[in-house]
Amino acid sequence: MADDQVLTDLLTMVERSPEVLALRVCVVELYLDRGRYADALAHCGVALGHHPGNEQVLALMTRCTHALSGGSPAPAPVPAPEPRRAPEYDWDAAEDQVGDIIAPAFVDAAPTEFVTDDDAATVERPTLRLADVGGMDEVKRQLDLTLLAPLRNPELAKAFGTSARGGLLLYGPPGCGKTFLASAVAGELGANFYPIEIADILDIYTGASERNVHSIFEMARRNAPCVLFLDEVDALGHKRSQMHGSSTMRTVVNQLLTEMDSATHSNEGVFVLGATNHPWDVDVALRRPGRFDRMIFVGLPDAPARRSILHYNLRDRPVAGIDLAALAAHTEGLSGADLAHVCTSATQLAMADSMRSGEVRPIGMADVQAALAQIRPSTGAWFESARNVVEFANGDGSYDDLAIYLKRMKQR
Ligand SMILES: Nc1ncnc2c1ncn2[C@@H]1O[C@H](COP(=O)(O)OP(=O)(O)OP(=O)(O)O)[C@@H](O)[C@H]1O
Ligand SMILES: [Mg+2]
Repeated sequence: MADDQVLTDLLTMVERSPEVLALRVCVVELYLDRGRYADALAHCGVALGHHPGNEQVLALMTRCTHALSGGSPAPAPVPAPEPRRAPEYDWDAAEDQVGDIIAPAFVDAAPTEFVTDDDAATVERPTLRLADVGGMDEVKRQLDLTLLAPLRNPELAKAFGTSARGGLLLYGPPGCGKTFLASAVAGELGANFYPIEIADILDIYTGASERNVHSIFEMARRNAPCVLFLDEVDALGHKRSQMHGSSTMRTVVNQLLTEMDSATHSNEGVFVLGATNHPWDVDVALRRPGRFDRMIFVGLPDAPARRSILHYNLRDRPVAGIDLAALAAHTEGLSGADLAHVCTSATQLAMADSMRSGEVRPIGMADVQAALAQIRPSTGAWFESARNVVEFANGDGSYDDLAIYLKRMKQR
């Protein structure tokens, strides 16, 4: 049958390029159409291995598990016209009902609405708020003090000689919520969110980087109020050394400085947030007053943050008897990304079982614990570098927050 030939061809392509999401999604959809839910679920598992937490795959997986547990497959989710918050889910009650299957509570919890204008491809409007960020009270307090409060009270800020101008740099180990926090800040301000990877604007072959920087700021100005989020700011430092003294990087840095400079441009309503795992590699010119002159350290998630991360990553999956508080208490040292990985691995264990038996076996504590036994914190190397920086390169006190954090870590 022609249709089955399509499936066969797709399967061959998927075998050749197992990481290509679009192909995998087609395979899952074809299996769903044919009522082959266990096969569809198996491909969802592989896709999640390549793209942990992918919303589209999670939604497809929900359709598969729904169908396998006796219902007809849930219809494909239609894009929501209104941004929706994750509904409150009573996990504590769920924890009392050990053994019961908890049906996926909601399908579409994307924290983002895409703005429909010319810049729709890249501008987002997050509905995430700081209150949605679990724990991390100190970071939230600092964000409020340095950015949100001066914006709320411009006159008062002026009287105290402070302002929200210039840039704010979030730094810390990988996978610990910098991007998540930046998006929550945009949500808090009711602003558009414009995430940019510095590496993407560097065009060292045609020399278009300078123009790229300019058009990004122009787009941000058009979309004000807007949080312009420059990720991997350290790439500007790295690439310069890789380019053996080429002047291109200097030009890009200068262009960035010019754009950020309120004397040369009206940046009314454009808030520049930067993020880096390696602030010590950030070009020194970018750290001068009026530029990224304020830094906030974003450390490993604390227990409430870990609870919230685990909850978020398990929210669309069939679970039973998951004790989030106990898991949060026993996962100190893991980053947000590590915890997301644990949830994916636990899901795969339950899924493998379900496929063997043909019945949905929800994810339980044993799966999560087995996944935890396999994982090592991914931030070890980062903390090693950080210790060296604090010891040998903190002459001006830039990393005092980090030093205090490391000291506390040692005492635990
Ligand atoms: N406090 C939190 N509450 C809820 N979820 C969180 C929290 N912190 C982190 N996360 C989740 O952890 C994951 C990793 O966070 P994020 O991508 O923001 O880290 P990052 O610091 O930007 O990482 P990288 O340095 O690799 O860019 C995301 O899925 C995010 O949703
Ligand atoms: Mg990030």
